[in-house]
Amino acid sequence: MLDLFADSDPWEEPLAPGAVILRRFALARAETLFQGIEAVAAISPFRHMVTPGGYTMSVAMTNCGNLGWATNERGYLYSPVDPKTGHQWPKTPEVFSSLCYDAAVAAGYPHFRPDACLVNRYAPGAKLSLHQDKDEPDLRAPIVSVSLGLPAIFQFGGLRRSDPLKRLMLEHGDVVVWGGESRLFYHGIQPLKPGVHPLAGEYRYNLTFRQAADSE
Ligand code: SIN
Ligand code: FE2
Repeated sequence: MLDLFADSDPWEEPLAPGAVILRRFALARAETLFQGIEAVAAISPFRHMVTPGGYTMSVAMTNCGNLGWATNERGYLYSPVDPKTGHQWPKTPEVFSSLCYDAAVAAGYPHFRPDACLVNRYAPGAKLSLHQDKDEPDLRAPIVSVSLGLPAIFQFGGLRRSDPLKRLMLEHGDVVVWGGESRLFYHGIQPLKPGVHPLAGEYRYNLTFRQAADSE
């Protein structure tokens, strides 16, 4: 049967040069993704990191994979060890890796091999101020960012902080991929509005996949 435009089929929205939103791309795998988040958080719990400037981040974070993003007094870093547990970060659940691979292929980055997955958890009011992802040595690798749970407004600008911002609602199952010309574009998440989601409860979750080690 021809079913090209069923409600549940993902669709693509161009965002910027090198950047695309894959709407609902993760939807079919959402329940398994949540099991993965639970498994990761059971080993490396969510925590509110403190920036070098002494500011406690409103977003709760954990990581999985070979390297995890963390803060210390001197700055931001990727570490093989969770500073909270003193052990390696948990392994990346298989469903995370396969989703990320499929999304990267769909967005035109078939060679993307992430080694770091940051898991963000937003409670009502939590936000991520406008920033660039620039702690990674190899900027040829894109960013793959998966939204789950409550919707949030994503801001996506340009290379300068002052560039005009697009504001887009990211919903449960949406995947944003940016790389190439837009790899260093400023972006952020506006304060989360309260709500209840059937799978995520009162939270929004985000998985951000990156290549954090230098490639030879
Ligand atoms: C990020 O910029 O690292 C996360 C973006 C998001 O939560 O969607
Ligand atoms: Fe970011």
